[in-house]
Amino acid sequence: MIKVGVLGAKGRMGSQVCATVDEAADMELVAGVDVGDAREELAAADVVVDFTSPAAVMDNLRWCVERDLAAVVGTSGFGDTKLTEVRSWLAARPDGRVLVVPNFSVGAVLMMRFAEMAAPFFESAEVIELHHAGKVDAPSGTAGRTAAMISSARRAAGTGPMPDATTTAAQGARGAEVDDVHVHSVRLAGLVAHQEVLFGGHGEVLTIRHDSLDRASFMPGVLAAVRGMAGLPAGLTVGLEGLLGLA
Ligand SMILES: NC(=O)c1ccc[n+]([C@@H]2O[C@H](COP(=O)([O-])OP(=O)(O)OC[C@H]3O[C@@H](n4cnc5c(N)ncnc54)[C@H](O)[C@@H]3O)[C@@H](O)[C@H]2O)c1
Repeated sequence: MIKVGVLGAKGRMGSQVCATVDEAADMELVAGVDVGDAREELAAADVVVDFTSPAAVMDNLRWCVERDLAAVVGTSGFGDTKLTEVRSWLAARPDGRVLVVPNFSVGAVLMMRFAEMAAPFFESAEVIELHHAGKVDAPSGTAGRTAAMISSARRAAGTGPMPDATTTAAQGARGAEVDDVHVHSVRLAGLVAHQEVLFGGHGEVLTIRHDSLDRASFMPGVLAAVRGMAGLPAGLTVGLEGLLGLA
């Protein structure tokens, strides 16, 4: 039995993770912690899953790392600065394990991989991510990671800068620039989590689109992450690719 604790247990994702863990035959939910609850309840867990907020996650994560509690992080907002900080905490804890997963949906992981494969072959690439109106951060962690993967694949292939003749633009009109890739964020009631990656070349456009239609789409990935934690090397791992055999 894998003992699982959940941070953000009353949230949209956390509550679904609690229910999914409860139903998994090889897991036991030992603690569901939200704002105002004592984190000490998590000490009995083999794996702690965090779905809180970008503002809260670092304090939670540090608390877990200091106790050698393996942590699976779904909370978004992990850029290089936060990842470097987590690595520095883990350097002092040789048995510590943290897995940061920008997107637990298998379809989204494949979308990112396909985007990485396509990136060197096209002059232009832009990302449009679309989420429910309750999302507090923009762009999404998935969009940030997709942009980073596109950019690094282009660099490795020696692809030059993208053509863009824009000289004047209203603020935000060209989106955010993440690793030299323009990322546009839509926030709309009714949506869940969606992303399009657009590639443009000579007389052709390739669109790669993924839609999470229900938060249930993230649960197989969360379960795979919890089950895979014990087999991961110590330290920080980013992304689900390794656990899905895609690394
Ligand atoms: N990686 C993925 O696949 C994926 C998928 C969906 C959402 N997310 C991310 O997960 C996070 C949570 O999303 P959500 O839609 O469930 O948000 P939500 O606002 O519904 O839930 C967050 C919960 O965390 C709680 N919380 C805040 N601070 C806390 C703290 N210090 N300790 C304990 N609990 C705390 C809140 O009270 C709330 O119940 C967001 O960052 C979101 O972008 C990631």
